[in-house]
Amino acid sequence: MSYFTIHDFLKKKKEGNKITMLTAYDYPFARIVDEAGIDAILVGDSLGMVVQGLENTLPVTMDEMIYHTKMVTRAVNHAMVIGDMPFMSYQTGVNDAVRNAGRFLKEGGAAAVKMEGGAEVADHIRAMTKSDIPVMAHIGLTPQSIHRMGGYKVQGKTEEAAKKLLEEARIVEEAGAFSLLLEAIPMELSKQISKELTIPTIGIGGGPHCDGQILVLHDVIGLFERFVPKFVKKYASLKDDALKAVQSYKEEVENGSFPSKDQSFR
Ligand code: KIV
Repeated sequence: MSYFTIHDFLKKKKEGNKITMLTAYDYPFARIVDEAGIDAILVGDSLGMVVQGLENTLPVTMDEMIYHTKMVTRAVNHAMVIGDMPFMSYQTGVNDAVRNAGRFLKEGGAAAVKMEGGAEVADHIRAMTKSDIPVMAHIGLTPQSIHRMGGYKVQGKTEEAAKKLLEEARIVEEAGAFSLLLEAIPMELSKQISKELTIPTIGIGGGPHCDGQILVLHDVIGLFERFVPKFVKKYASLKDDALKAVQSYKEEVENGSFPSKDQSFR
């Protein structure tokens, strides 16, 4: 089977077919996501919260992102793998952005990167794409800006804020982004942005009119319950299942029913 590419992103938009994305951070879960036929996997810096147990994504480092990206790329046969640029891997300048984005492709085996920001990272996007590093832009709620935004809040709710986001969307497309992630913005605004742009939009809390959707895998399968945003739909309860399994194991070891003859050697 061939790999999904940035050209398939555009093709799907042109043909009116929805793009499917999920995050994954390690080999076993990336295998599942890939086997399900999801188009692209984001190795998101959300791993800081759902895997590392951090309060937010800010402490996640480039080395940690590369470590997880390697596990994911080893697992896939079809999905396109996109590495997420962590806090301070690009805010410090265009050269740092190119160097760190390059690490995702060179060391991690990813096919593209995602980077938070609009107009302020247009030069970064230009330099990265010029270096043959495809970039997915990310506007709306950008979790690395949590302290400026004052929390995880829906963005673009006023007329002025919506106009600004639409302008940012045009700027990142013009700078060369192959796709644009829209996080936590009103659905009418994502509808307008998706209609105006040639590149596909991927929504997370962006409503049904985006050209594709992404969610954090651990939210979808019920493995992360510290907080569940309104835009999440939970499709399984793996935390509950795992807890039950571990409790049963403990009970059986304690009452002597595990191991039985079946799990023992003669
Ligand atoms: O890090 C992440 O998981 C993200 C989400 C928007 C998908 O950026």
